[in-house]
Amino acid sequence: MTSLDWWRTSAVYQVYIRSFADGNGDGTGDVEGLRSKLPYLADLGVDAIWINPWYPSPLLDGGYDVADYRDINPAFGTLVQAEHMITEAHELGIRILVDLVPNHCSWDHAWFTAALDAGPGSPERARFHFRDSLDGPPNNWQSVFGGPAWTQVDDGQWYLHLFDPSQPDLDWTHSEVREEFASILRFWLDRGADGFRVDVAHGMAKDPSYPDLADHVQILSSAKMPNHPHWDRDEVHDINRQWRAVLNEYDDRMMVAEAWVSEESLPKYLRSDEYHQSFSFDLLMAEWNAEAYRSTIAGVYDPANALGAASTWVLSNHDVMRHTTRFGLPADVSWRTWPVTGPVDALDSALGERRARAAALITLGLPGSSYIYQGEELGLPEVWELPWDVLDDPVARRSEGTQKGRDGCRVPIPWTSQGASYGFGDGDAWLPQPERFAAYAADQQIGVAGSFHSLYRDALRIRREHFTADAAMTWIDSDPGVLAYERGSGVRCVANMGSTPVPMPAGDVLLTSQPDLTDALPSDTAVWLWPT
Ligand code: GLC
Repeated sequence: MTSLDWWRTSAVYQVYIRSFADGNGDGTGDVEGLRSKLPYLADLGVDAIWINPWYPSPLLDGGYDVADYRDINPAFGTLVQAEHMITEAHELGIRILVDLVPNHCSWDHAWFTAALDAGPGSPERARFHFRDSLDGPPNNWQSVFGGPAWTQVDDGQWYLHLFDPSQPDLDWTHSEVREEFASILRFWLDRGADGFRVDVAHGMAKDPSYPDLADHVQILSSAKMPNHPHWDRDEVHDINRQWRAVLNEYDDRMMVAEAWVSEESLPKYLRSDEYHQSFSFDLLMAEWNAEAYRSTIAGVYDPANALGAASTWVLSNHDVMRHTTRFGLPADVSWRTWPVTGPVDALDSALGERRARAAALITLGLPGSSYIYQGEELGLPEVWELPWDVLDDPVARRSEGTQKGRDGCRVPIPWTSQGASYGFGDGDAWLPQPERFAAYAADQQIGVAGSFHSLYRDALRIRREHFTADAAMTWIDSDPGVLAYERGSGVRCVANMGSTPVPMPAGDVLLTSQPDLTDALPSDTAVWLWPT
């Protein structure tokens, strides 16, 4: 395998910078905080870090509202600090992926303020989707966060925002928009970024006739509708190819798409002149049973493998409920609404944690890249009980009380069981941490046999030794409740996702998801082993 292929097998750790580590004690995570934790990440054994948006931003959507793509938010630090951090990460063998947000910018971006000042018909407005409309919004498109996707400005025109009103969509048919982003890519590549996670990679192209949508469907399913007027249109692939050409000017760089598209469509994003990878979110949605996992994994692996692309595995990220909590909820309870509707006692936290540990072995053993969301290696639960008055997410703001949104998975990391904000910083954190975080703190887990942290650290080490030589995998026939596969090296992962124990498979055990497993593999446990 050449060094160009590092991304095929990487374990990528996702840093939600605002909540990772606070270096200056102001309650907000920052670049210096991240820099101070690089040795921790190197010791954990990750290959790369993806950093959520760190640009100047009014933070009306956690930084996905970018005011300047070529700088660092002063609340997070400076460009010089970021450059030092990238250098230090590289010295520790860790690559850096920057979050690129091309579908929209912030309403504080210089282009948008110029567009507002310049007025209807101006060249400044042509970089966005401004439209005239006398009776209400120009069409019935809905914002992903709820409410109309159009907002009216003082002179009467409307602008399109598929997300929050503070995130005006850019018009990607405009040559200046394309040139600007090619230049932004080079800006970060020149500063040592090893690649990009591309936000809403299926959204940039819009039907120029802006037709009404037949029905109002939610983001996930709407992305799967054929010839959708704003998701997954063919023109997006030209943009992908333009960016890939820029990356190809450099050695060793990669880009991964956040594309919520159908299984049939996804391979197009993975053609050799487009993305190196695309996230697959299917496991996030899969029910906890062997059959669902098997078909979901095959649905991701088979097409990617056929194209020579690498699969990706994601259990949690900054947009969904943390999976230790998700796995503890009954299958018929929606995790999106449960924090509002309850019932509270539907949650079985111990079950969720067992399953999360087994899921770590299932996913880290698979071919391809695994993405680990900060705190996942500590088994952190969702802070679903955050009170409404501290919530910051536009999803909560715009949901009219029906959804608490995504702050529950963005609560600052507990590094120590004692002290202000559990070692996140010197004072209170920007979101309150619950008392139960003390028990999950990194200092309670590092070096402790049987801890979540030890499981992840061991798993990442064994993964590097035995799971990354090639992308081959075969399914092993097994009991209905059991998921079992073998990798090219001959090493196996066997997970009992059923409700009764099964005999421990014969072999030399490398790692088990629960301590002290000998004769039996109980429900919700997994093992890595060399079969004998
Ligand atoms: C992506 C991000 C999400 C953000 C949205 C708009 O889905 O992951 O956090 O709100 O794009 O940029």
